[in-house]
Amino acid sequence: MCGIYGIINDKNNQAAQTVLEGLKKLEYRGYDSWGIAIKPLASDTLRVDKHIGKIGEAKTNLPPGSTALGHTRWATHGGVTDINAHPHLDCTKKLAVIHNGIVENYQEIKEELLKNNHQFISETDTEVIAHLIEDKSKNKSIIQAVFETFKTLRGSNAIAVLDLNSQTIIACRNGSPLVIGLGNNQYFLASDVPAFLKETNKVYFLNDGEAVVLNNAGIKLFDLETEKEKILSPQILDWKLEDAEKGGYTHFLIKEIYEQLKSIPKTTSINEKTITEIANKIKSGYKVVLTGCGTASYCTLAAKYFFAKQGIDAQSIPAYEFMPFSKFIDQKTLVFAISQSGETADTLIAVRQAKKRGAEIVAVVNARGSTLERLADTVLSVGAGPEIAVVSTKAFTSQLSTLYLLATAVADRYEQGKEKIKNLGKVLTIWLDKKIFETQIIDLAKKLMDEEHMYLIGKHLNYPATLEFALKIKETSYIHAEPFAAGELKHGVITLIQKGTPCFVLASQDEVRDEVLSSAAELKARGGLIIGISPFESKEFDILIKTPDLGDLTIFPNIIVGQLLGYYLGVGRGADPDKPRNLAKSVTVK
Ligand code: AGP
Repeated sequence: MCGIYGIINDKNNQAAQTVLEGLKKLEYRGYDSWGIAIKPLASDTLRVDKHIGKIGEAKTNLPPGSTALGHTRWATHGGVTDINAHPHLDCTKKLAVIHNGIVENYQEIKEELLKNNHQFISETDTEVIAHLIEDKSKNKSIIQAVFETFKTLRGSNAIAVLDLNSQTIIACRNGSPLVIGLGNNQYFLASDVPAFLKETNKVYFLNDGEAVVLNNAGIKLFDLETEKEKILSPQILDWKLEDAEKGGYTHFLIKEIYEQLKSIPKTTSINEKTITEIANKIKSGYKVVLTGCGTASYCTLAAKYFFAKQGIDAQSIPAYEFMPFSKFIDQKTLVFAISQSGETADTLIAVRQAKKRGAEIVAVVNARGSTLERLADTVLSVGAGPEIAVVSTKAFTSQLSTLYLLATAVADRYEQGKEKIKNLGKVLTIWLDKKIFETQIIDLAKKLMDEEHMYLIGKHLNYPATLEFALKIKETSYIHAEPFAAGELKHGVITLIQKGTPCFVLASQDEVRDEVLSSAAELKARGGLIIGISPFESKEFDILIKTPDLGDLTIFPNIIVGQLLGYYLGVGRGADPDKPRNLAKSVTVK
């Protein structure tokens, strides 16, 4: 939540424009408002430009300068207004502060600052940071003042401060991500790599409790506790610029849906050694607990079915409901934390709790350099590449594929599992390549465009598939889509079905096919419009979107139908499929 981006030594002295462009790459982190502060070349006063709304096509007329700091906001404290947009200044207007996180003790800090006559303009928790630094810098260096202030803040936070006098950016991290980029005599600070990937792939991911000072002379890394300088060891990322660009597609979402044709089979060529080691632990008697939030949580549920098929009783616990069950976790438990960003607050809280109980943590994570990666004992990197659209697609299918491979490895069938995933990649490529299929989805989207309620049913593996399918519809089109286990239907839900109500039936050629069709018949008898998402035809279906028959793996194409349908419904209803309202890509607050 919230994107941070700053630059030192902009090569064209167009730091504000550079920051604006970089912020557009981070917009997925929050799009309530954006703002930039710059030290102009020809002036000794900070200039700030900030506005509510998406940064999309925004322009800025901030003057030339080589040092600037910017922010995209996902509002927590204070409404969505120009005034509450970051950066925030101190009373002297010589410090500009941007922030990602929540300052839990901001009220107490503010009360003290008010006693010292500080003038507050916004309703944000962030503004107290600027005034506290101002206060502390009266009798110490600006660097010490920032470090001390940061250590006063409670909660998970990352801050970046632009100091006018020294033309320095100082940033600190505790719980919210920060990465620095080392370019050709240019230095970057960001919440995520895509902001500066155009300029450099030489990066350093800050750890919690670290701070950086960036100025003309270069970058210095500090330990916040001791305030001593540390050696900075950057790494070179194998990410390509195209990964963070739309590459001819209208939206990142549709690009990422199609990238699954490569990202799913890619999971067979990474992690083999780690998967084998983890499988051996499970075979030796370790319990398996899977956790995550949102889409990642649905991934844990689908994986639970995969493990069950291989004779393993895995637990799936949403991270935000983890605590009551954490007492069952012990040193012989493997806790799998599934996450695209590796920064989701609830997932990290569950992981920290599991660690306290002595569990071994396996992070099944997509983003690089995340907090989750660092907390984990073992990392299963899912390798889907940067996922920019807020709605998760390719990260989810790669996580699911990775867990499928692990489940097969536990049953000593890893090679067969690999072949099945490779085949899935091939079949999906042929299936998605057929324009006829996409035309069918677009036609269906047109038909359902004005609906406000939809229902979905599925059984066994297709149950978590309905949860994920429905979430894609809700996130991208804002249509109420409610998923149910098919068996749940007659226990109450069926009251909601009326003549013409769209009802999706997700099915596979499996042992529960006939039961699902009976449920479809019950829906049909109440007048529902039955839309089959399935490899087979049935008289119960009024409409059929035929998916390839891939056994257990049929849920992949079944879910991809939901991704595509959500995308086209969203576009048709005028929503922004890359940036759904009220959401942010990584949810770093509880
Ligand atoms: C997915 O489309 C969602 N926007 C959301 O549910 C997401 O999956 C969830 O917030 C977890 O994020 P993570 O994978 O980065 O931990």
